Amino acid sequence: MVRNFIVSITRSGISLSGTALAVAALVLMLSLFALEQFGFEGGPYLGILTFLILPMIAVVGLILIPIGAVLWRRKMNRLSGSESMPMMPVFDLNVPKTRHWLLILLAATMFNIIILSTATYKGVEVMESVEFCGMACHAVMEPEHTAHARSPHSRVSCAECHIGPGADWFVKSKMDGAWQLVAVALDIYPRPIPTPLHNLRPARDTCEQCHWPTKFVGDKLSVIKTYEEDEENTELTTALLLHVGGEEGAGSTGIHWHVDPNVAIRYRSDETREEVYEVEFTDVDGTVTDFRDRKAPEDGGIWRSMDCVDCHNRPSHIYQPPGKEIDKAISAGLIDRTLPFVKREGLRIIDAEYDSHEVARVAITDQLTQFYTDNYPDQSAEASAAVQTAANTLGDIYSVNVFPQMKVWWNTYPNHIGHEQSPGCFRCHKKSMRTEERVAISRDCDTCHVLLAEREKDPQIMSTLKPE
Ligand code: HEC
Ligand code: HEC
Ligand code: HEC
Ligand code: HEC
Ligand code: HEC
Repeated sequence: MVRNFIVSITRSGISLSGTALAVAALVLMLSLFALEQFGFEGGPYLGILTFLILPMIAVVGLILIPIGAVLWRRKMNRLSGSESMPMMPVFDLNVPKTRHWLLILLAATMFNIIILSTATYKGVEVMESVEFCGMACHAVMEPEHTAHARSPHSRVSCAECHIGPGADWFVKSKMDGAWQLVAVALDIYPRPIPTPLHNLRPARDTCEQCHWPTKFVGDKLSVIKTYEEDEENTELTTALLLHVGGEEGAGSTGIHWHVDPNVAIRYRSDETREEVYEVEFTDVDGTVTDFRDRKAPEDGGIWRSMDCVDCHNRPSHIYQPPGKEIDKAISAGLIDRTLPFVKREGLRIIDAEYDSHEVARVAITDQLTQFYTDNYPDQSAEASAAVQTAANTLGDIYSVNVFPQMKVWWNTYPNHIGHEQSPGCFRCHKKSMRTEERVAISRDCDTCHVLLAEREKDPQIMSTLKPE
């Protein structure tokens, strides 16, 4: 009888706590949701509470109700020593009261389904947000989140590169995500998070949703300012004309030729992709050329089809070496170039390991101030504001590139564009990577760029490009 069922629900402690849990969670959820509708900004944590944690509690509560009922019946049966009470309720729809109760039960279930599915939908939205990815696991993702925020992709969400469109990758990412939550909760995640990501979705489905792989970029001028480690912080200029190329007319040229849909490049490398053993290149007409590093192991390693990420492995999480960061800061006027030896001293001070960002900032300020009071006591009073600004900038640089709690130091994540921070292009473009006929993948500087000036004081080319 239905009445028996109701009795078992209301008598069983488990069912009662289940009901209490479900009702409390649903009421809280509804009120938080209402608050949010009225414009209350709670940040990512409120979203996680409202749309992930409370619904889970509500579901647990709802599941506890029938479990409690069944357990209570078992106990009653055991106590009375008979089978007088059936384990499951018998619904006799001819009894008006049963129909009544059934309707109420159905209405309540519908209500729960609507609330829980809305919550699931909102929960997914929360999980796809940059805030969730970057901040929910704050300490874990701090390096990636910080680097993303100052990258050209700061307006592109984590999910657009890491999940992309379609249901299958969505489900896969949620399954990975569930494991990651467990790993974070149990504190068993790796530090630093290893790179490369071997299960990153192919660039065709992510990068190429926004970028045309064959777009013709042509030659791109890149002017780089660097500073010597001398007293004057002498400024040097490098100017490159990069042959980015792309598809033009019948074929592709230049650097973006690698991603022409008509050619295919596969390569075999170690886990880190820093050591390339073998490159297999299939041309437009189907001819296959095999380049092999004579020093590399004959077999083993991992084969991979080359795509955007093999060069642009840091489109969003860009960490720079300390020297490069200081050069950029001096060039941008964030560090006063007239401070003697500021390049050399800055580099010495930040290219070190400190226990935290706070410790680093204090140590950087102390050491830089110390240097100027010791070595330039006459000027140190009037320069003190400039020294303080420089120290703050150096602290900022440290804090966006080094993350001690995640064991992310300078160059934990090398950049494969170019050949400065890692072998980059030279992983394949090197003398030892050659065919049986000893033809190597070209390492001629002009294959990739024209060096218009290389670390020159006042290069002629700059006055041509920017006439006074
Ligand atoms: C423009 C595309 C893009 C966006 C946006 C993006 N990522 Fe990534 N991310 C990548 C690529 C590409 C790699 C892997 C590089 C590799 O495997 O060599 C990566 C790697 C990672 C890694 C592994 C560690 C590492 O640095 O190699 C983590 C963790 C990560 N991303 C988290 C995030 C988070 C969190 C966000 C949002 C705050 C985000 N990503 C946004 C493209 C992106
Ligand atoms: C959701 C769209 C979107 C996706 C997905 C995306 N990008 Fe971008 N990308 C952009 C936008 C927007 C810019 C900035 C353009 C600007 O600032 O002029 C950009 C800029 C770039 C740049 C130029 C950066 C610079 O220094 O100016 C590169 C390189 C790049 N993306 C590579 C990638 C790669 C590689 C991927 C895949 C891992 C990717 N993008 C995924 C939208 C996207
Ligand atoms: C062989 C290496 C390589 C591959 C593969 C590659 N790129 Fe590039 N890409 C470069 C280099 C080098 C530059 C110029 C870098 C710079 O500006 O400093 C560049 C520049 C760009 C730019 C900026 C262009 C501009 O107008 O300034 C975008 C966007 C870009 N790449 C997207 C992609 C996408 C999307 C893919 C995959 C379909 C891809 N790249 C594949 C090496 C590569
Ligand atoms: C995975 C191996 C690999 C990597 C990494 C790689 N390349 Fe290549 N690249 C090749 C192969 C293979 C060829 C074709 C060589 C040949 O035909 O002799 C090629 C050819 C080229 C060409 C000539 C294209 C043309 O017009 O025929 C340029 C330019 C080039 N690469 C630039 C770069 C740059 C810049 C980088 C780094 C950002 C880079 N490559 C990284 C394998 C690679
Ligand atoms: C396979 C392609 C390739 C070859 C070969 C190559 N380079 Fe480069 N080089 C690049 C790319 C790509 C960049 C730009 C990286 C960036 O955008 O930051 C670069 C950057 C540079 C820079 C500027 C570095 C900086 O950031 O200060 C210098 C200097 C340079 N190359 C010198 C050379 C010289 C000298 C040779 C010949 C021995 C050479 N390169 C051969 C691809 C190549």
